[in-house]
Amino acid sequence: MEIIILPTAEKAARLASLLIADQIEAKPYSVLGLATGRTMERLYAQLARMHRDEGLDFSKCRTFNLDEYVGLEPEDPHSYRSYMNEHLFNNINIDLDSTHLPNGMAQDYKREAARYERMIAESGGIDLQLLGIGKSGHIGFNEPLSALLSRTREKGLTQTTIDQNSPLFDPPEKMPRRAFTMGIGTILDSRRIIMMVTGAEKADILAKAVEGPVTSMISATALQLHASVVVIADEDASAKLEGTEYYHWLYANEPEWRKYHQLL
Ligand code: F6R
Repeated sequence: MEIIILPTAEKAARLASLLIADQIEAKPYSVLGLATGRTMERLYAQLARMHRDEGLDFSKCRTFNLDEYVGLEPEDPHSYRSYMNEHLFNNINIDLDSTHLPNGMAQDYKREAARYERMIAESGGIDLQLLGIGKSGHIGFNEPLSALLSRTREKGLTQTTIDQNSPLFDPPEKMPRRAFTMGIGTILDSRRIIMMVTGAEKADILAKAVEGPVTSMISATALQLHASVVVIADEDASAKLEGTEYYHWLYANEPEWRKYHQLL
């Protein structure tokens, strides 16, 4: 795991966007794993700008989102499909038929989960998976006690997650209590993972996730088992980390990161 701490959330989003652009340029047919949430909004704005101003070409990409609320129509303004269309897909040149989210309206949960897993496998697997982290330590909607090898399934949401996300619903009680989510095992199958973490309210959970012991009580700790994870945090989110000095040194000195220094 590499941890890169940048002064602002804007710079964190910029670095993530450059890594995604490099991925797409190296492999135009990339399969991208995408996340929703407040943290991703800056990143998607950057990608939209890079498409508009620099011609970043998404036309051959396929995407799979981590999750979708159970019981919301894709057209519902609170659905993750609506979020993705608004924040990213409508602002870049991706074919909407190549963008996938679980079907929140599926009645047979097991069948829908198996269908989603199958589609990911048939696409050749996810090249680059984007993640945020919830205050409960979830990645996707893998709430505490999710099996570290879990696959896509329907999951009940914790009160922490309901408190985190219900203010985005009008009224807040409209937030579904269940969601389809890729499993932790599904996420760990991705070839490369970028987790973006910004804001002081994530400082405690980030420290536990990357410097604490691996535990199913904090799903994000499973990322410690993956061979290619980059965590990009802003200064506020990194406030509780113990190894900050070392992480800064690595970012300043590893040849891999040198080209990004002047682009930020
Ligand atoms: C969203 C998702 C979640 C969010 C997490 C952080 O698709 O899978 O794990 O990444 O809840 O959300 P924000 O960025 O709103 O704090």
